Amino acid sequence: MSRCIIYHSYSGITRGVAKKVRAACGGDLIEVKPKKNYNALTVYPLGGYRAMNDKKDPINPEKIDVAGYDMMVIGTPVWAWKPTPAINAAIAALKDCKGKKAVIYATCGGQAGETIAIMRKALEKKGVEVVGDMVFDKKTVRDGRKINELIVMVNAAAIA
Ligand SMILES: Cc1cc2nc3c(=O)[nH]c(=O)nc-3n(C[C@H](O)[C@H](O)[C@H](O)COP(=O)(O)O)c2cc1C
Repeated sequence: MSRCIIYHSYSGITRGVAKKVRAACGGDLIEVKPKKNYNALTVYPLGGYRAMNDKKDPINPEKIDVAGYDMMVIGTPVWAWKPTPAINAAIAALKDCKGKKAVIYATCGGQAGETIAIMRKALEKKGVEVVGDMVFDKKTVRDGRKINELIVMVNAAAIA
C-alpha cells in the first residue's frame, strides 16, 4: 500500500502530525507551500481573509500527481474556521485522484468550524472517497492517543 501525506503548515503543527503519520505508516511527505509566503504581519489579515473567502493560493508544487499512490492523507491548519488557501489549491491541483481513498485531518486552536466539511466536499467533487477525518486542537495534538487514532484510521483505510 503506497500512500502520500499532503499537508500545509504555517507554524509547524500540521507538519508535526504529518511526520508522525509518516513515521508510523510510511509514505511520501508532500509539503505544499504558498508561492508567496505569509509572515506575522500578513497571515491574519491576508491569509485569514483569503481562507474565509475560500480562495486558492498559488502553490508549490503546482500539480500533485497521485497516480502512483493507493491512498492519501491530507492535513490542513484551520484558518478562519476553514482550510487554508494553500490546501484549497492542493486539492484543486490533485491529478489522477479519482477513485482513491483519503483520510483528512485539521489542526486548530479549538474551533475547526467548517474545515472538514469543506475539504470533504472538494475532494468528493474530484472523485476521492474520504474514509476518515480527524480534528486536533491545541491540547489533543500533544496527546499520543489521538495521533494513534489517526494512524489506526490510515492503516484501516489501507486494508479496506
Ligand atoms: C490566520 C490564522 C487563522 C486561524 N484561525 C483559526 C480558527 O478559525 N480556529 C481555530 O481553532 N484556530 C485558528 N488558528 C490557529 C491554527 O489553526 C492552529 O494554530 C494550527 O494548529 C496551526 O497549524 P500549523 O502550525 O500547521 O500552521 C488560526 C491561525 C492563523 C495563523
